[in-house]
Amino acid sequence: MNDWRVPGFTSTGSKRPDALFGTPARMTRAAGCRVWDESGREYVDFVMALGAVALGYGHADVNRAATAAIAAGVVGPLPPVAEAELAEALAERIPWLERVRFLKTGAEAVAAAVRLARVATAREEILGCGYHGWLDWCQGAAEGVPAGVRNLFAELPFNDVAAGRELIRARAPRLAAVVVEPVVVSEPTREWLQMLRVETERAGAILIFDEIKTAFRLAIGGAAERYTLKPAPDLVVLGKALANGFPLAVVGGRADLMNAANRTWISSTLATEGVALAAARATLEVFERDGVCEHIHRIGTRLLHGLHEVQRMHAGLVTGVAGIAEMCFLHYATEDLSRGVALRAAERGLLFKRTAYNFVSLAHDEGTVDRALAMLHEALRAV
Ligand SMILES: Cc1ncc(COP(=O)(O)O)c(C=O)c1O
Repeated sequence: MNDWRVPGFTSTGSKRPDALFGTPARMTRAAGCRVWDESGREYVDFVMALGAVALGYGHADVNRAATAAIAAGVVGPLPPVAEAELAEALAERIPWLERVRFLKTGAEAVAAAVRLARVATAREEILGCGYHGWLDWCQGAAEGVPAGVRNLFAELPFNDVAAGRELIRARAPRLAAVVVEPVVVSEPTREWLQMLRVETERAGAILIFDEIKTAFRLAIGGAAERYTLKPAPDLVVLGKALANGFPLAVVGGRADLMNAANRTWISSTLATEGVALAAARATLEVFERDGVCEHIHRIGTRLLHGLHEVQRMHAGLVTGVAGIAEMCFLHYATEDLSRGVALRAAERGLLFKRTAYNFVSLAHDEGTVDRALAMLHEALRAV
């Protein structure tokens, strides 16, 4: 196989070998929380497609809906009924999604939210907190981003009330939006969330919650639901687990802001293909029917407690436990150690991310978590 045909090895940067395990490097199949590599070897997985899958790989109900959408022709000349139906179903479950637009990737959806905020405010500057995708507006440090674009963006530190307030106030007349990931390695404080709500209103700026990782995980409505922010964020962005691995993202929120989509140009040819829309509809039904967020919280809590135990038992090697029950990872004393443990764990049949979140899903149970923790202990003993 010519791996050099794809520069950087893969089109999904966070799946490149040095970000994961070194080896296994490529897979052929996934089901539930299991993955098979090129040689047919089976692994239990906690990467879960970087959080894009919360029901387990190939969930039967989602596959059934997707298969029916394939049989119905996938795409066509008119916008599909499924688009309007999913918009309605999402608004019923997440009331602050008064209007929505569908896109294919998280990065596109956050960029759309930023565009809508710029339209609404006739301002240009943006403050961001967390990761919001690869597009120019937020990639200040990346080569190839024009200086003019870079200068319109600045970082807002997570959970720092005083610094956040100062940054927002200093930019107030020019600030279009504050875009935040509501969970960055730890939970947000109530004071920080409240400061964002109060200060953006005061500045006349739009508050955008990037719930790409947190929606369909912390709660169906994400962090805004779990932490009951009132009033809700002006715009929110959903993605990843929304369609359990099928490509779909949503930008949604206040009707007056979303209706500005008619005054600018946000559109993509395949934003309305039927398979992902059907998958998302089925995913939402399973989330509601099977209490998925409760399951994820319970199993994730067991994992998080287990990781603290791992840290206690390997104190010199493991320096910390990062994240929350639904998304967590270990800090290691050195980069070499981090690589070594990931590789040794993979050799034992466990795919456990070392520098970014691991995710449990509906397909993980107590036994899966206990076996994974045992494998982590063994991997740490082996390095
Ligand atoms: C919070 C957040 N926003 C945006 C993105 C970008 O989404 P995508 O990779 O689908 O473009 C990600 C992806 O990891 C994310 O975690």
